Amino acid sequence: MKVSIIGGGGRVGSNAAFALQCAGIVSEIQILDANADLAEGEALDLLHGASSLADQRIYSGDYARAKDSDLFVITAGLRRKPDESRLDLINRNVALFNGILDSLKAAGMRRDALVFVVSNPVDILTQLAASRLGLPWSQVLGLGTMLDTARFRSLIAQELKLAPTQVKALILGEHGDSMFPVWSSATYAGLPLVRMPGCTPAFQTQVFERTKGSGAEVIRRKGGAGWAVGATIAEVIHAIALDRRQVLPVATVQQGAYGLRGTAISVPTVVGRAGALAHVEVELWPKELQALQASAKALNDTFAKVKRA
Ligand code: 2OP
Repeated sequence: MKVSIIGGGGRVGSNAAFALQCAGIVSEIQILDANADLAEGEALDLLHGASSLADQRIYSGDYARAKDSDLFVITAGLRRKPDESRLDLINRNVALFNGILDSLKAAGMRRDALVFVVSNPVDILTQLAASRLGLPWSQVLGLGTMLDTARFRSLIAQELKLAPTQVKALILGEHGDSMFPVWSSATYAGLPLVRMPGCTPAFQTQVFERTKGSGAEVIRRKGGAGWAVGATIAEVIHAIALDRRQVLPVATVQQGAYGLRGTAISVPTVVGRAGALAHVEVELWPKELQALQASAKALNDTFAKVKRA
């Protein structure tokens, strides 16, 4: 499977490329970036490690060279300026993102190609990509709350001294302020997580708040996420490449689950080779259902304000 990473010269895109290379599952990785020299540098640096890691074809190139891609990952985006409002950033990123979508369409794409949006605001841009590219909803996915869910699981495990891979706990909704935790189905090694020693209501509040603030915390400490976001991008891509049909909290345009339609937001979603195969309406507590509705409303309100020139 060929994966082209648009924005691959940046930290998120190059870290995702490295995660794909370490796993050795996809066969081809193209690095595409507005800064062509940086894209070539990242591709070359990755290629140098091929002999120690995996037998893949890794190179940089333009949209024309990417037209045979099975999957496009879009990580390109501008960072918020210190005094910039979230909506101002959104409008700047929407303009950049529309340019990328138009370049994709101009160069041509395979009819069954998948588009995987990582750039922020990821839910808004996922919805924009689905409408602007005219692709079926199932072929446009966003990273959504995958990274939030990974952080949530890892921080819980660290605090409670558990094995991170055995902590299963979802964050759903917006990749943003209105995201919410799903304690109702959280488990550790198949046992109810809320019954584990130390998993008190106070701990639950504290670890969720730390998760929600993790994006800002990482930006403050190191300028922006890289390793964990790269790992979660690769997790989604591998579910696609291997047709794993895993249930993942990726963002897709909703088709009626939980009464939601038309909004791109993260709910449990079956992910396989054809993209998003189905939404799974796992049972939620009433307060979790309310949080999901509130998150969808917040996204709809933002989407209505976005200039979609
Ligand atoms: C993060 O959550 C900024 O969306 C990015 O780290």
